[in-house]
Amino acid sequence: MKTRIPVTDLQLGMYIHKLGGSWLKHPFMRGSFLLTEARDLAAIRECGINEVWIDPRLGQMPTATQQAASGPEGGQILAAEPSPAAIAEIAPAAVAKPADSREALVQEIERARRICLSAKSQVKDMLQAARLGKAIDSDTTQLLVREIAASVERHPVALLSVARLKTHDDYTYMHSVAVCALMIAMARQLGFDEERTRLAGIGGLMHDLGKAAMPLDVLNKPGKLTDAEFNVMRSHPLAGAEMLRANGASPDVVDIALHHHEKIDGTGYPHKLKGDGISELARMGAICDVYDAVTSQRAYKEPWNPAAAMHQMAKWEGHFDKALFNAFVKSVGIYPVGSLVKLASQRLAIVIAPGTESLLSPVVRVFFSLKSKEQIPVQTIDLGASSVKDRIVGPEDPAKWGFRGIDELWMK
Ligand SMILES: [Fe+2]
Repeated sequence: MKTRIPVTDLQLGMYIHKLGGSWLKHPFMRGSFLLTEARDLAAIRECGINEVWIDPRLGQMPTATQQAASGPEGGQILAAEPSPAAIAEIAPAAVAKPADSREALVQEIERARRICLSAKSQVKDMLQAARLGKAIDSDTTQLLVREIAASVERHPVALLSVARLKTHDDYTYMHSVAVCALMIAMARQLGFDEERTRLAGIGGLMHDLGKAAMPLDVLNKPGKLTDAEFNVMRSHPLAGAEMLRANGASPDVVDIALHHHEKIDGTGYPHKLKGDGISELARMGAICDVYDAVTSQRAYKEPWNPAAAMHQMAKWEGHFDKALFNAFVKSVGIYPVGSLVKLASQRLAIVIAPGTESLLSPVVRVFFSLKSKEQIPVQTIDLGASSVKDRIVGPEDPAKWGFRGIDELWMK
């Protein structure tokens, strides 16, 4: 007999039969396991799941008080394993909805920083293993994608914003993490089911695996590539697809790696595919890959302001699928968190949270006057509030002003 108990009653020694949430909500590979680690108990309590099914025959029983509280009158004791429909019914109520408040975003930003730190070393290990021709640990990959997906689910923009910040030394590793998060955010926006969302995330994480097969002197060159070097690098989608096939990856994941450099007008590589000839997941991969590349610090260029990247990419003809690009903008924002923007009041501000009503009216932090050309006391303004008359005129280039440390303004 399986017993459903609130997460607050869960104790070490209990055998977890099923976690009361969807795949995206918890970081565990296994659905059933004996709970022996305090850190696993803490992870379950933290991940937004409210209830779990335990199997008292295989682990510690709930106490008498807990049994009474979750007795038959509450319909909590299940005579048999819960059906998928029952789980689906519970999931929406059991899982906390992503909070819109700035406080929730700041908390998730802190978590996202820790996730990114750990993800960076895991991706580094994965690429090193691939370079040595070793098998890729798919369990580790799946866990990492789940952790990233859970963060995106809790607050869609936190990990996207943190993963964008990277040094050029970290680029190869953090770019994979960022594209994974962007793919998952897009998949949610497009209403994908869990399985397709998972494939989108894994494809994002693996899309540049073929770079592990590229010569290190070309891969790590601290400047623009020559035409010959660029031609070598253009073989990375084919190399990546081959490595993924050899590791038994899903055909969808292989396809993202193989075709994320194709363009809608047929001028991409390696197969010069056109329009619908490129799969939806690969078309998504192309958008997420370019956005993260242009908004990241590289050895040879400053990062683009995220809002400027959105505006520029929207103008490019023939590169991206327009409908998918619209979904991307909805998932990341026209003025993504961390964007420097100019206000009608002749002040500069950083976007610190998405708008609740409109993509055009985020919450910003004002810090510079264009009239006096001086910093002004920092002030937070919700541009969506009815009492606020100010508005964004457009993105502003941070390089023009030589600002340092403006990312602190949205991270804290
Ligand atoms: Fe690539």
